[in-house]
Amino acid sequence: MAKKISNAKVVVDKDYVISEIDKRIYGSFIEHLGRAVYGGIYEPGHPTADENGFRKDVLELVKELQVPIVRYPGGNMVSAYNWEDGVGPRGNRPRRLELAWRVIETNEMGTNEFMDWSKLADTEVMMAVNLGTRGIDAARNFIEYCNHPSGTYWSDLRREHGYEDPHCIKTWCLGNEMDGPWQVGHKTADEYGRLAAETAKALRLVDPNIELVSCGSSNSDMPAFPEWEATTLSHTYEHVDYISLHQYYGNHENDTANYLAKSLDMDEFIKTVISTCDYVKAKKRSKKKIHLSFDEWNVWFHSNEQDKQIDPWIVAPPQLEDIYTFEDALLVGSMLNTMLKHSDRVKIACMAQLVNVIAPIMTENGGDVWKQTIFYPYYYSSVYGRGVALNPIVTSPKYDSKDFTDVPYLDISVVYNEEKEELVIFAVNRHLENQLHVDVDIRSFEGFEVVEHVVLENEDAKAKNTLGREQVQPHSNGQSYKEAGKVIGILPKFSWNMIRLQKNN
Ligand code: AHR
Repeated sequence: MAKKISNAKVVVDKDYVISEIDKRIYGSFIEHLGRAVYGGIYEPGHPTADENGFRKDVLELVKELQVPIVRYPGGNMVSAYNWEDGVGPRGNRPRRLELAWRVIETNEMGTNEFMDWSKLADTEVMMAVNLGTRGIDAARNFIEYCNHPSGTYWSDLRREHGYEDPHCIKTWCLGNEMDGPWQVGHKTADEYGRLAAETAKALRLVDPNIELVSCGSSNSDMPAFPEWEATTLSHTYEHVDYISLHQYYGNHENDTANYLAKSLDMDEFIKTVISTCDYVKAKKRSKKKIHLSFDEWNVWFHSNEQDKQIDPWIVAPPQLEDIYTFEDALLVGSMLNTMLKHSDRVKIACMAQLVNVIAPIMTENGGDVWKQTIFYPYYYSSVYGRGVALNPIVTSPKYDSKDFTDVPYLDISVVYNEEKEELVIFAVNRHLENQLHVDVDIRSFEGFEVVEHVVLENEDAKAKNTLGREQVQPHSNGQSYKEAGKVIGILPKFSWNMIRLQKNN
């Protein structure tokens, strides 16, 4: 049967610049939750474990992803966490009831070990403080412990614990999802705004070089969104640098066309948060611009039911272990595109999470590692999506779905890396039936030729990867080519693509 074809057009120009991309847009997240830490990044006794107990097989994959920043230690968990429990001699560390996920936290891993791990993973750390059960005092002691060089109680305690040099952690989150009634120490917008502003002031007095993230809404469906942002920022505006966004999607209704359109919701969410920040800016007659930290995003729904069966108060149970499908990888690709399209305001983003817990990397306790379907769009975007985001002018056929109208079949972002003389197109063809022929006018990129067209495609929307059986893997046999100064991108039906061009010297 002949292939069904749809056509789209794109104009790309060096001058249509959105922004320099902050590499931290490819960040991720490790929470003390499920097997992210214990059995994920840390498993003493594992055949690949180093002298610290860090799994080298996991580290290899994290390094492959080139993750620039990792948020830690939570998440919901941070809202009842005593950072002091996780430092000092391991033998003295308390086992605690961890209330967010109702497990036992052994505190074998803590701040210093995570900083060690981050060095090996070649990544920066984004540290969260507890503004649920605790407040200014614990937070200021914590930053003194981490960032002050020496000569004070907390900094000398760090040195006593074997860390002579300060960790110099630059990015700090002022709590987590404080608008959520599920959060231990949940607060009203005014309560949180005041506490966050005062904590921010104290943290900056200890270390003026830090950057701070104020909690935005837990997702765009929260009843108080975006009033939460407006009210909290009315307190924190001059004291913070970023406001956080969190969003997870799922395909509960098994409606693939509608599911793939959910990145439009993400786009709307980002635009609303930008407008709200700018509204507060105008109200305050401020000169300062608040940026966005999309520090939790992903697909999360597959494991919802199985998690209800897990007994409480055990150590590192397999919580939130979504096994991702092929269609999830396409939505993840579009979510990454959405972030790139807003890279003028979204400066940090964290795929939540990194290992075992709603993650691109999975492990077996004592066994092997494997890559989920979502690993691939994340990998290619992180490795090749560095430089400047360009604004492609797109003409695409569209469709309507249950919740969305005018959904372009073509979802595209474009990155220009001047240093490498490389132009990279990330594109999702949302059409479930038709191949998409995309005519890309690259008028200002004379001499650029297609060097690679990577495709992630599969006949089965629900195809999954499991240990030893990776059904969803990219190939480099994409059919794009150059013709009369244009790139003709041939995007297979229902696929994620990366078309990479380089200057022919
Ligand atoms: O990433 C899993 C959880 O999702 C985080 O702990 C919380 O911040 C969010 O609700």
